[in-house]
Amino acid sequence: MNILDETFTLNTGATIPKIGFGTWQIPNGEEAYNSTLTALQNGYRHIDTALVYGNEASVGKAIRDSGINRSELFITTKLPAEIKDASKVQDAFETSMINLDLEYVDLYLVHAPWPWAERGADYRKENGEVWAEMEAIYKTGRAKAIGVSNFVVSDLEALFETAEVIPAVNQIRYFIGNTQSDTVGTANAKGILTEAYSPLATGALLDNEEIIAIADKYDKTVAQISLRFVLQNDLLPLPKSTNEARIIQNTDLNFEISAEDMDYLNSLAIDL
Ligand code: A2P
Repeated sequence: MNILDETFTLNTGATIPKIGFGTWQIPNGEEAYNSTLTALQNGYRHIDTALVYGNEASVGKAIRDSGINRSELFITTKLPAEIKDASKVQDAFETSMINLDLEYVDLYLVHAPWPWAERGADYRKENGEVWAEMEAIYKTGRAKAIGVSNFVVSDLEALFETAEVIPAVNQIRYFIGNTQSDTVGTANAKGILTEAYSPLATGALLDNEEIIAIADKYDKTVAQISLRFVLQNDLLPLPKSTNEARIIQNTDLNFEISAEDMDYLNSLAIDL
């Protein structure tokens, strides 16, 4: 089966296409519009954006112009990491919905457990309050699922103490050599799907000698090995590209990495 037709099932019961098109760092305007449309025309049905990417308007326009039935698409956007005042959550969501010009999103994520300028700071109390607002959005049906991003074990465990709705997803930075197994294990135990952003380490894996050797063995590219690795660990990769050939290549994943080579790749520590 083509990987583009395969899905994971979320803890809401909804299905989610196993490959998502990542749009981080794709500028609003022609670039975001063209690359999103190209992805959709080449079979992607899952698009990941965020308010802070600044490209929701172009992504939304590409989605509408694609002519693909909305029910066949899975669209994710995110609440800015800076918003830790619960009274500001609804406004941010409305802004995203206006930008995207869609009636609903399939998944709405808290972008990070702390504002980016305060990485690692303790916002557990505020995250609990913000999460209650996320639950309110979920209950309106305008976000079909809600989740988090960049949460580690302590952030997840704090959220579980007050959450009524368990997150459907935790989206984390994940690639060969950086697999955050504690965080993934905590999510798995609660039925939370982990999504992998920067599955190519924003390109930094491409000249890694160990991965090149494996890629040569399978006659695949490093990108393809990196994406198969994520899938075979039962995570959902979100590759990003603005180039049509690479957008297509990143879905040409109909091969299997052996258990032995998976063990080897899982044992690598890649310090970037
Ligand atoms: P480009 O947009 O020019 O294709 P990540 O998904 O980890 O964020 O990585 C994205 C980076 O990797 C971008 O610089 C993108 O460049 C590049 N990239 C994406 N797919 C491939 C591929 N199949 N081969 C080589 N580079 C790729």
